[in-house]
Amino acid sequence: MTWWWDLAKPALFALDAERAHEIGLGVLESVHAMPALRRAIAPAHDPILRVEPWPGVVFPNPLGLAAGFDKNARAFEALAALGFGFVEVGTVTPLPQPGNSRPRMFRLPADRALVNRLGFNNDGAEAVAQRLRGPRSAALGVNVGKGMATPLEGAVDDYVRAWQRLAPFADYTVVNVSSPNTPGLRSLQARGELERLVEALCAARAKAAHRPPLLLKIAPELDEDGIAGVADVVKAFALEGVVATNTTVGRAGLRTPAGIVERCGAGGLSGAPLRARALEVLCELRLRLPRPTVIVGVGGIATFADLWERLEAGADLVQAYTGFIYGGPMWPRALLRELAVRLRAQAPAALC
Ligand SMILES: Cc1cc2nc3c(=O)[nH]c(=O)nc-3n(C[C@H](O)[C@H](O)[C@H](O)COP(=O)(O)O)c2cc1C
Repeated sequence: MTWWWDLAKPALFALDAERAHEIGLGVLESVHAMPALRRAIAPAHDPILRVEPWPGVVFPNPLGLAAGFDKNARAFEALAALGFGFVEVGTVTPLPQPGNSRPRMFRLPADRALVNRLGFNNDGAEAVAQRLRGPRSAALGVNVGKGMATPLEGAVDDYVRAWQRLAPFADYTVVNVSSPNTPGLRSLQARGELERLVEALCAARAKAAHRPPLLLKIAPELDEDGIAGVADVVKAFALEGVVATNTTVGRAGLRTPAGIVERCGAGGLSGAPLRARALEVLCELRLRLPRPTVIVGVGGIATFADLWERLEAGADLVQAYTGFIYGGPMWPRALLRELAVRLRAQAPAALC
C-alpha cells in the first residue's frame, strides 16, 4: 500500500459512498485522458498471467473490474493501467436514465460490503459508444440492460438496441438479467423469457459484422433448478459464457448491526458476505457447463485466496468491484503478483 492511499482512504470513506466514487472516477478519468501518464504507471504484464478465454481474444491477465464501476466508459484505460486485465463497462441501457434517487449507495465496513440501488444510472448507449470509438489498449466487456421505464414486454428490444450499438467495440458482451434494482429484471432469468431474449440477441449477432462472445450475468439467488435452466439455455444457443454472480438481495449473517443495515434500505449487497454463495453458484454452473464455456467468477473476491479459490472452482476469469473499493488502487497489482508466483509453482486444481 502506498502512503498516499493511506491518507486518501479515510478522507474518501468519510464521504457519502457515491460521492467518493465520483471523486475517484474523476481522478481516473484524468488519467484515462493522459496516455503518457498511463503508460508510465501501467505494470509490465507477466506473460504467465496471459489468458485466452475465447480463441483469438487475449487478455493480459484473468482479473477484471466488474460491471457498475465504470458504467459510462469514462476511465477504462486508467483502470487497465492499475493492472486489471479487462474492464466491463455498463450496465448501459439504450437511452440515458438517472437511476433511483439518492442516497443509493452505502458502505458496510464491518462486513467489507456495499449496498447499492443505483438502478442503472447511465448515459445511454449512444454516449457510451462515442467514448469507445478510436484506439483502445484495454480488453473491454460491454454489459447491457433494459431501461427502467421500459415494460417487461419491451425488454427484448431494449437489450437488442443497446447490444447492437455497443457490440462493435467489445471483446465480449454481457446480458444483465440479474440486477435487483430494476423491477422485474430478474424474471428474465426464467427459461422461457431467457430463451426469447437470447434468441433475439443471437439473431442480431448473426447479422453483425463483429460478433463478440455473448454471456449471461446471473443472480446468486437462483436455486438449482434456476441454474440448470440457465445452463440449458447457454447450451441450446451455444453461448460463450456466464458471469456469476450479481449482487444479492439477502442480508443474512452480517456483522453490521441490523439497524444500520435496515437504514440502507433495499438494494443489492456485494462484497465479502456474497463470497460463499457466489462460489457455490460457480461450482454448480461448472458441473453443468464444461469448458470451453467460459465462466466469469465474481462476488466477494477480496484476497488472493478468494481469487485462487474461484480459479480452482472452475472460473476462467474473475472480476471484483467491492474488493477494489476497500483494497484501493494498488489492490489489483498485489493480487496479480501473488497469482504469478502461485502459477509458477502449480496450476489451479479442479475442485468442483
Ligand atoms: C455500486 C455497484 C454498482 C453495480 N452496478 C452494476 C451494473 O450496472 N451492472 C452489473 O451487471 N453489475 C453491477 N454491479 C454488480 C457487480 O458487477 C458485481 O457483480 C457484484 O458487486 C459482486 O462483486 P463484488 O462482491 O466483487 O462487488 C454493481 C455493484 C456495485 C457494488
